[in-house]
Amino acid sequence: MNAQPLNVWVVDDDAAVRWVLEKALQGAGMTTRSFEHAEPFFAALREQHPDVVVTDVRMPGADGLEVMRRIESSGLGLPVIVITAHADLDSAVAAYRGGAFEYLPKPFDVDEAVALVWRAARAGLRPAANEPVPSAVIPQMIGQAPAMQEVFRTIGRLSRSSMTVLITGESGTGKELVAQALHQHSPRATKPFVALNTTAIAAELLESELFGHERGAFTGADSRRVGRFEQAHTGTLFLDEIGDMSPALQTRLLRVLAEGEFYRVGGQQPIRVDVRVIAATNQDLAAAVRESRFREDLFHRLNVIHIVTPPLRERREDIPLLLDHYLREAARELGAEPKAVASDALALLRGFEWPGNVRQLVNACRRLTVTAPGPEIQAADIPEELGGGTATLAGSPEWSNGLARWADQRLERGVDQPLLATALPEFEKALIRTALARAHGQRQEAARLLGWGRNTLTRKIRELQLDL
Ligand SMILES: Nc1ncnc2c1ncn2[C@@H]1O[C@H](COP(=O)(O)OP(=O)(O)OP(=O)(O)O)[C@@H](O)[C@H]1O
Ligand SMILES: [Mg+2]
Repeated sequence: MNAQPLNVWVVDDDAAVRWVLEKALQGAGMTTRSFEHAEPFFAALREQHPDVVVTDVRMPGADGLEVMRRIESSGLGLPVIVITAHADLDSAVAAYRGGAFEYLPKPFDVDEAVALVWRAARAGLRPAANEPVPSAVIPQMIGQAPAMQEVFRTIGRLSRSSMTVLITGESGTGKELVAQALHQHSPRATKPFVALNTTAIAAELLESELFGHERGAFTGADSRRVGRFEQAHTGTLFLDEIGDMSPALQTRLLRVLAEGEFYRVGGQQPIRVDVRVIAATNQDLAAAVRESRFREDLFHRLNVIHIVTPPLRERREDIPLLLDHYLREAARELGAEPKAVASDALALLRGFEWPGNVRQLVNACRRLTVTAPGPEIQAADIPEELGGGTATLAGSPEWSNGLARWADQRLERGVDQPLLATALPEFEKALIRTALARAHGQRQEAARLLGWGRNTLTRKIRELQLDL
């Protein structure tokens, strides 16, 4: 044990942040020193150095990235924690490439910050960043919601590693995009990224697809074939829809992962490969394990790092950003002017459930670019399938089916909260948003549409904390 208290230096132009951090770190038994700007910090660094540095990214004068570059070139190998309000994937990864240890988006939790400092101090010296920044284009991932920030942080944190990652999330939530980002921000970025959707290939062919085969291994095997595992050598193999693999193949996959070698179908020579595996599924793999549909040992091998891509309805604040991005994209594809979205139409789209998640939104943007007559998409332009029109309960069995599925899944997962306590507020919120959108924000009219008095509507909006 080190008898000396940890010495932490904080660089942030925001006095409130410095104060909060100093209090918290000192409360945890550390000593601190704070700097309002990077320059005095550089000067101090010439005389003395701390155990851990916490720095803001955006500051007047030299910024946090400059702080990291200086620390890096000092050769001290100091761990750095980067805090920033402008949390996006690129700056996260840029920060890690510069040798940072952790990434903390503002507003942060004080306890989390203290825990990060401990971790950073324990990790101690890090090897200098000498891998080149990948030149490949990063597919643009949009997300300011906390759940997406968590995804970005994990991608950043993994940018120097080749660990196995399991990505789970509903269909259309961006699992493949995450897999690509992981690869592009890894030391293997310049090596192959090989994707294989295990459900897209007939079960009898899947084995040879994965491991290749020798000539004559089976009827129709006219020549030798190199499988996906070999193609991905030194790179990344993305195994999509892993939850649907047959038990026999699960066993083989487990062996390859454990031993790093395999045989081609009909082959005698073991083949050694160095492959990073990223797996994805929209199934609940833990449940599949409980029901003996998925091997537990394979599950643990794949589930080294787990990334969950959140459903769009749980990050509604990102809907306007996504609409803006994909309406532009659709306009570019179609050679048209990008459409704007009127506020009542936006309210409808924000309130929509998006069962197909971002993929459904991408398609909706294409469709609306073609079908909306004016330069601005109106509520009346939104089709029933996207929550517009005159959907009646009886006319939308999808609606109640979806609800029944949801209830069933919660019971299945043993979620504690009573069904109605969770569902009723959501139900009311959806109806209120829709009525308000229709009524162009006029509460009197919206209340009439809902069948409530105006006061009830006002009270409900307050109780449900609806942000309109
Ligand atoms: N965060 C995001 N920002 C921007 N676009 C996104 C985001 N997430 C997903 N998309 C887009 O949504 C579409 C679906 O994404 P993707 O194919 O990665 O989903 P998935 O989870 O793999 O779905 P499935 O389970 O159906 O295979 C793609 O066009 C992708 O570019
Ligand atoms: Mg996919």
